[in-house]
Amino acid sequence: MFMGIDVGTSAVKALLMDDTSTIVAEADIALSLSNPHPYWSEQNPADWWEATLQAIDLIMADNASALAQVRAIGLSGQMHGAVVLGADDTPLRPAILWNDGRAKAECDELEAALPGLALRAGVVAMPGMTAPKIMWLRKHEPDVFEAVRTILLPKDYIRLHLCGEKATEMSDAAGTLWLDEETRAWNPDAIAATGLNADQLPPLFEGSDATGTLRPELAARWGMGKNVVIAGGGGDAATGGIGAGAVTHGDGFISLGTSSQLFVASDRYRPKPELLLHSFAHAVPDRWFQMAVLLNGASCLAWVAKMLGETNIADLLARTEAQHKKPSDLMFLPYLSGERTPHNNPYARGVFFGLGTNTTRDHMVQAVLEGVAFALADAQSCLHAAGTHCALPGVIGGGARSLYWTQMIADIMGTPLARYQGGAKGPAFGAARLARLAVKDGTIADVCTPPVIENVLKPDAHRHEQYLPRMAKFRRLYDALADEFQ
Ligand code: XUL
Repeated sequence: MFMGIDVGTSAVKALLMDDTSTIVAEADIALSLSNPHPYWSEQNPADWWEATLQAIDLIMADNASALAQVRAIGLSGQMHGAVVLGADDTPLRPAILWNDGRAKAECDELEAALPGLALRAGVVAMPGMTAPKIMWLRKHEPDVFEAVRTILLPKDYIRLHLCGEKATEMSDAAGTLWLDEETRAWNPDAIAATGLNADQLPPLFEGSDATGTLRPELAARWGMGKNVVIAGGGGDAATGGIGAGAVTHGDGFISLGTSSQLFVASDRYRPKPELLLHSFAHAVPDRWFQMAVLLNGASCLAWVAKMLGETNIADLLARTEAQHKKPSDLMFLPYLSGERTPHNNPYARGVFFGLGTNTTRDHMVQAVLEGVAFALADAQSCLHAAGTHCALPGVIGGGARSLYWTQMIADIMGTPLARYQGGAKGPAFGAARLARLAVKDGTIADVCTPPVIENVLKPDAHRHEQYLPRMAKFRRLYDALADEFQ
């Protein structure tokens, strides 16, 4: 039995996977997000730990005997978050998250100080990444900066609680700007440019390595044995890839969660920072991936549902689909949290364009779904411009549950999309697979198999044609407004 824990943005998810890779139990504990100032996005690390304990306790309530057989635990987490610990290893302030936009000036300063950084770090400096946020702390909260003893990523803070070890692994370190992606080692120049010493960062492991063993008091709490291994794990993009079996060159998927990503596995490091792609180390040795990252995704659907006072998303989607005859006249720019690929603009915001007296709630929902799909098509264009193609991406994440939305995305992108049997398993499942690899229970090829495809959604040529002029207008609209977002 193996456990995967994913420290997401909207929830902590824990799951149990048996020795045949079947999920036998899952529990989610919701998290809240704090936006104390415009463009800020923070969470308390203590809340992640509390939610982790609750999720595992919840699994224990119905599956105590399965839980007792856990041999290894793998961790996954939202990437880029800055968890700053003082000398006593407690957080000095709330964690600054991946969708925080405060550190734009620091990105410019970092790139000016280290002009070649993007080619080593796999991506241009963007505000959500860890290094510029630490530079922001140095400038705006110098007392905190001076007191920082260790910087951890979100899932690695959970590791510290689980096994007492400060450690990270390649695929999450990849999102800090401090990793040299090709050599898979910390980059001393980037660390120094941020005003840090190398000993403030944890040692690096591979995601499939063992990094420690579960504390005896936690093993006792959950009825587990003595030597439960804590695997390196991965950033949620990479663990999503492990879960979806995207480990071989050219395999990929779209993740439609709070944020969205287009992810394609790669056999070597292929930086393309000028296209605003993220070229990162994967969670298993000698593999990398290229990824277009959208800061918005199913979160836009959750937002419009909340605005409309709608609690049943499935009903909302069914009504929207029933009235959907053609591309919406209304246009929605989905940049509620700013955007990385292809704009690198933390200040971009959502826009409805073309509201009329005849606009209905359903039109607004259709426009939101289309807006996210246009943004995904933009992201795909960046990957294509890099020469990166994925023949049949799968779709994972909460948004993948809607056949209507995934077919619309296939139509707009002009790309066939695979839907997986039993739904998409996601990052916590990938983390459980890494736990399995950490105790040497099979090879990468044995463990990281692709899910069974339930159906392939082929793009409809007529609808794709209909959407082309809308896609062009979507791009023009952003270009016209880009300078207005400040
Ligand atoms: C990836 C990214 C997001 C977070 C969300 O670069 O910023 O996908 O990892 O969890």
